Amino acid sequence: MRNQSPDIKRRLRVVTDRAATRTQLSDVDQPAKHIDTRSSGWPEKLFHSFKVLLGNHRTMGDANAPINPFAPSGIPSNQTLGSMPVDGKEVLFRLEHVGRRFGVGEVVIEALRDIDLTVYAGELLIVLGPSGSGKTTLLNLLGGLDRPTSGKVYFRNRELTALTDMQLTVYRRHHVGVVFQFFHLVPNLTAKENVQLSAELVPRPLDPDAVLAWLGLADRADHFPSQLSGGEQQRVAIARALVKDPEVLLCDEPTGALDFTSAKKILGLLCQLKEKWHKTVVLITHNPAIAVIGDRILRLRSGEIVDIQANPHPLPAEEISW
Ligand SMILES: Nc1ncnc2c1ncn2[C@@H]1O[C@H](COP(=O)(O)OP(=O)(O)OP(=O)(O)O)[C@@H](O)[C@H]1O
Ligand SMILES: [Mg+2]
Repeated sequence: MRNQSPDIKRRLRVVTDRAATRTQLSDVDQPAKHIDTRSSGWPEKLFHSFKVLLGNHRTMGDANAPINPFAPSGIPSNQTLGSMPVDGKEVLFRLEHVGRRFGVGEVVIEALRDIDLTVYAGELLIVLGPSGSGKTTLLNLLGGLDRPTSGKVYFRNRELTALTDMQLTVYRRHHVGVVFQFFHLVPNLTAKENVQLSAELVPRPLDPDAVLAWLGLADRADHFPSQLSGGEQQRVAIARALVKDPEVLLCDEPTGALDFTSAKKILGLLCQLKEKWHKTVVLITHNPAIAVIGDRILRLRSGEIVDIQANPHPLPAEEISW
């Protein structure tokens, strides 16, 4: 698989060069508004997509730093990272008095205010809240895609808020998988190549074929995204996140663009990721009907946590409806 890497990279360059001539980039539109870049002529949106999905970006702060996915990580392995158990449960994330403000002209938006939160390893945490309540902002902080303007974020015993930009990139690449509402697949790569591209970034990826097969996509591996249904594209996006074998999957409205049947299938897979693969899953949704599949349900309003509810008997995804 690894010897295909130069080919994939060459094809990726072809894709981006083609994309540079396009005026419509809606298929790669994505929300990394906060990261400053030197995009060297690449379409800004496409460049942002690769940075967020694959974690191989440079930021203004370390634009001359070498990019080497196998360089010693700013984040040590999970064995050395450790974590303090709370109530007998292993802690994956801890947020202390976290705030995130955005200044737009003279207007200051407090997207998150004084958030104290613990995310436990192996749980499915549902984040509910109306539009603008701070859900994506929270997810971006967990994923190392953004930094808070106040407070501290810990991943296990490591303070993410104290990492350099390069260390944060390494954290994102090795420990986090992100799934978005609109998939953000590279349009000119097949399903398998999209997954391989992600696998190339970590030293010990899972087998792309096995991951695709697990997601029911074995016979779709050679299809391009435009030849796949929405639900299939989202499964490829999950495969791409999963192939890095991250500890946590951060999902921002992953079923928001899907029909009921496809959405339930995706939710079922996310539940299995927790149950069979022991992944931690943070799932953002507008849809309160989905909340019952979670181990805990966090409700945000105007940047504040209004409620965190334990759900000792999560329902299987097949049993929910809306
Ligand atoms: N980069 C940014 N610059 C300025 N304001 C921002 C930025 N990102 C988010 N915001 C603002 O922060 C608030 C929270 O945004 P966020 O995207 O987290 O909401 P959300 O709960 O994910 O909403 P939705 O359900 O619509 O996706 C909103 O008022 C939003 O306009
Ligand atoms: Mg959002």
